[in-house]
Amino acid sequence: MRLLVLGGTRFLGRGVVDAALAAGDDVTTFTRGVSGEPPAGVEALHGDRTKPDGLDVLRGREWDAVVDTSGFVPAVVGRGAALLAGAVGHYVFVSSISVYPGFPGQPITADSPVHDCEPDAGSPDGEFDPELYGPYKVGAERAVEQHFPGRSAHLRAGMIIGPHDDTGRFPYWVGRMARGGEVLAPGDPERALRLIDQRDLGAWAVDVARRRIAGTFVATGPADQVTFGGMLAAMDPAGQVTWVEEDWLVERGVAPWSELPLWLPASVGPHAWDTDTGPAEAAGLRTRPVAESAADTLAWLRSGELGAANPRVGRAGLDPDREKELLTAWHARG
Ligand SMILES: NC(=O)c1ccc[n+]([C@@H]2O[C@H](COP(=O)([O-])OP(=O)(O)OC[C@H]3O[C@@H](n4cnc5c(N)ncnc54)[C@H](OP(=O)(O)O)[C@@H]3O)[C@@H](O)[C@H]2O)c1
Repeated sequence: MRLLVLGGTRFLGRGVVDAALAAGDDVTTFTRGVSGEPPAGVEALHGDRTKPDGLDVLRGREWDAVVDTSGFVPAVVGRGAALLAGAVGHYVFVSSISVYPGFPGQPITADSPVHDCEPDAGSPDGEFDPELYGPYKVGAERAVEQHFPGRSAHLRAGMIIGPHDDTGRFPYWVGRMARGGEVLAPGDPERALRLIDQRDLGAWAVDVARRRIAGTFVATGPADQVTFGGMLAAMDPAGQVTWVEEDWLVERGVAPWSELPLWLPASVGPHAWDTDTGPAEAAGLRTRPVAESAADTLAWLRSGELGAANPRVGRAGLDPDREKELLTAWHARG
C-alpha cells in the first residue's frame, strides 16, 4: 500500500508510520519538519497545512490511503481533503471522543449525539480556541466525509498512552512510580480506565486504511482493561501509593486531568471510561497489556529522548513540592 500520513513524527503518528513500515508499505509523511523527521525508509514531504498553498507538494501525487493525525480545524481539514479527493483512495481521520458532549458524564457509543459543527468552520490559518476542540473534530469529520463520501473512517480516540507521549499524562504516572517514595494517587483505586497504546491505535489505523473500512468508531481500550490501582501496580513498583479522597483534592484546587493525569472526579466524569469499543474490536482493534505500555514508556523516559511538550495541551503532572505539601496535609487532617 502507498500510504500518506498527514503528521507522523510526534506520538500517535509514529505508531502509524512504524506499523506501515513493518507491513512493507510505501510510506510518505507530510509535516512542517518542526517536530523532527520520520525514520529511514519514509519519504518525508514538508509543508504547512494551515497555509493556503501549504499542501502544494502533495499535488500530482497518488496514494492508496491517507491517515490524518494532525487535523483539528474543519476549514483546514476540508482544504486538504478537497486537494486529495481525486488522488487518494481512502481517508482515515483521527478524531476524538471529545466529539461527544455527553463525554465524560454519560456512557458513549459511536451513535451517541455529537456536537454540531459545520464542515467549513474555523479559521483557515488553523488557529483555534481549545474549548472548540470537540466541536471542531466533528466539523473536520464532516469535511472529510464531504470529499470522501463512503470512503473514509473516523477513529474517535480516547486516552492514548505509550512511548513518545508528548502530553506527559501517562508518562507522569510511569515516571512518578519509578521515582519512588510516597505517591499521591486520586480517588478510588477500583475506578476503571480504558487506555489505548499509540502503537495499537496506529497499527489499527493502518489496517483500516488497508482494508478500506468506512465508518465511525469509538477507539479506546477495551472493557475491564484495568483499574487506576491496577495501572499503578503495573508500573515500576518503587512508589508507595497513598490514595487521597477526591473531594478533598477538589477542595484544595488540585486540577483533575492536568495536575493528576487520568483523574476525572466522579462528579465530573462518572462515565469517562464507559465506552462501547465493540464495533472497533470487531473491525480489528487490539490492545496490548497496560504493563507493556508502562515498561516501554519507562524505557523511553530513561532514554532521554523526551521531546518538546505537546503544543496544544502542554505537559501534565503534579509538581513534586505540591505533592509533598498535599500529602503532609492529608496525613495531618483531623
Ligand atoms: N493524545 C491523546 O490522548 C489523544 C486522544 C484523542 C485523540 N487524539 C488525537 O490524536 C491525534 C494525535 O496526534 P499526535 O500529535 O500524536 O500525532 P503525530 O502525527 O505523532 O504528531 C502530529 C504531527 O503533525 C505535524 N504537524 C503539526 N502541525 C502541522 C501543520 N500545520 N502542517 C503539517 N504538519 C503538521 C507534526 O509535525 P511538525 O510539527 O514537524 O509539523 C507531527 O508530525 C490528534 O489528532 C489528536 O486530536 C489524541
